[in-house]
Amino acid sequence: MANILLTGGTGYIGAHTAVVLIESGHTPILLDNFSNSTPKVAERIQVITGVKPMVIEQDVLDTAALVDVLNTHDIQAVIHFAAHKAVGESVEKPLSYYQNNVMGTLSVLAAMAQAGVHHIVLSSSATVYGENGVPPMSEDAPLSATNPYGQTKVMMEQIIRDVAVADKTLRYAMLRYFNPVGAHPSGQIGEHPRGIPNNLMPYVQQVAIGLREKLSVFGNDYPTADGTGERDYIHVMDLARGHVLAVNHLLAGNDSFTVNLGTGKPVTVLQMVQAFEQASGKPIAYTIAPRRAGDVASVYANPQLARQLLGFETEYTISDMCRDAWVWQSRNPNGYDEA
Ligand code: UD1
Repeated sequence: MANILLTGGTGYIGAHTAVVLIESGHTPILLDNFSNSTPKVAERIQVITGVKPMVIEQDVLDTAALVDVLNTHDIQAVIHFAAHKAVGESVEKPLSYYQNNVMGTLSVLAAMAQAGVHHIVLSSSATVYGENGVPPMSEDAPLSATNPYGQTKVMMEQIIRDVAVADKTLRYAMLRYFNPVGAHPSGQIGEHPRGIPNNLMPYVQQVAIGLREKLSVFGNDYPTADGTGERDYIHVMDLARGHVLAVNHLLAGNDSFTVNLGTGKPVTVLQMVQAFEQASGKPIAYTIAPRRAGDVASVYANPQLARQLLGFETEYTISDMCRDAWVWQSRNPNGYDEA
């Protein structure tokens, strides 16, 4: 059982991972600057688990402060979630993305080296496969990026690999997420994007509660079952469990590794809309719009390596993902702010 620091720990994936860590007997400590989250998450985690995790307001760019946190709380592993993640915004504000994501990773690694912490789990993304890959994506596919956000994820991975070559005591796990959706089944925690959502599921959810009029389906002339883009949606609770398996694998003394976390099953935009309508009982108005720049027809994982290495199998179905997203959204139309 370990004390584990979660940078970006009050964000969407961090909060769900904290729940599973607590349920597994670990002690997560959530560090965040609240640029896209709130400390209120801790109370919701307490409702679910009976344990209120410690929350520390801190920017990952402050290396000295990180060293202090790592030492004070006797941290054995870091799960590094803290990063900006919006593709469009990264094109507008590349400096902010390189600063926060790349410099943030350098700062975390420097602090870990100073404090003698040897295990890091990185929040990576299927975005590192770029646009030329042929699905199902395997971990040994070449990496590339089509925008600054994707580029930062490629760089964050590379930096960690390089540091681990020089520092033989460092062990890493890179987790390449496909499309995380859904929420804890209790409806206590979930995703609450600020402003107009960029991603499909949050947008669909906001149409369902009447916050947005209709969904724009970006393209219906892709070479897929119904012409709309296919992705590999993974329930955030499955994803969270993947982090716990990964950190346990490292803490057990195993070598560094890089794995996909996905289901391996492609689902189209219209299939997702239909599943959400069934789960919520709400009609989702949509219109067919032009393709979104930078989108590809089909992205899904080869999930074999995570299965072999970690015994990771996804458990939640598309219908579970939609049901849990709806429970969260309908009970928390304003996210963590009271109605
Ligand atoms: C996007 C990012 C990816 C990032 C991930 C984070 C782009 C091009 N890619 O992935 O780099 O890692 O989010 O979660 O932004 N769609 C609609 N209407 C919408 C929104 C989306 O039709 O309003 C479609 C998209 O065309 C796509 C699918 O829904 O086919 C999923 O889109 P999205 O949720 O944005 O995820 P990705 O594009 O896979």
